[in-house]
Amino acid sequence: KLADLQGLKAGTLKMAVVTTSKYLIPHFLGEFVKAYPAIDIVLKVANRQQIIEQLERAEYDFYVFSHPPSNFELDVIPLAANPLVPIAAESHPLARQRKIPFEQFAREPFLIREMGSGTRHAIEQHLKNAGLDLNVRMTIESNEAIKHCVMSELGVSILSRHTLALGGSEGLKELDVEHLPIRSQWYLARLAGKEMSVIASTFLDYVQAQKDRLSTLLLP
Ligand code: PGA
Repeated sequence: KLADLQGLKAGTLKMAVVTTSKYLIPHFLGEFVKAYPAIDIVLKVANRQQIIEQLERAEYDFYVFSHPPSNFELDVIPLAANPLVPIAAESHPLARQRKIPFEQFAREPFLIREMGSGTRHAIEQHLKNAGLDLNVRMTIESNEAIKHCVMSELGVSILSRHTLALGGSEGLKELDVEHLPIRSQWYLARLAGKEMSVIASTFLDYVQAQKDRLSTLLLP
């Protein structure tokens, strides 16, 4: 409390975030850490299913999902848009085409994230709702590995635009395919009813104040 009064809040902020949000969340943390240099950060990064398992243990102050699970009581704040976009190698014939019919995209070998991935979950939901199918050929456990496989012309994929905008898009082209992108959204979540530390409420205030600026900065 004395530290608070001196504007030197000290302690640890614990966050558990889905892998794809690792392109976004560090940009929220950067300015926060500069403003509160005495606050330490613990950042766990894992796929959606593993972060859902962390909710069970209730050890973290905040969680970041694009599809928060419905079987937990969560308070959520929308942070930023998370469009999931179709990609191919720059050298791929589709990279030069406009208004690609979905059926044509769907004939290409498709590279998909592992079971438990939120990106995969969103793609599967979208296909199911629209009655569409893909030609899934490879399961790959990382966005970065998928990008390199797409660059190497092993197939096409659908990934969060953040993985391109902030992770580098060299050798890759976002495609113009009907029914895509998939519109989704990042959420900052906390377990409803969990007591909030001074550090956690400081971070929440910071996010509320900064989220409009940061979300447009990160995905122009
Ligand atoms: P993932 O999650 O990194 O597990 O794919 C991203 C998301 O929830 O959209």
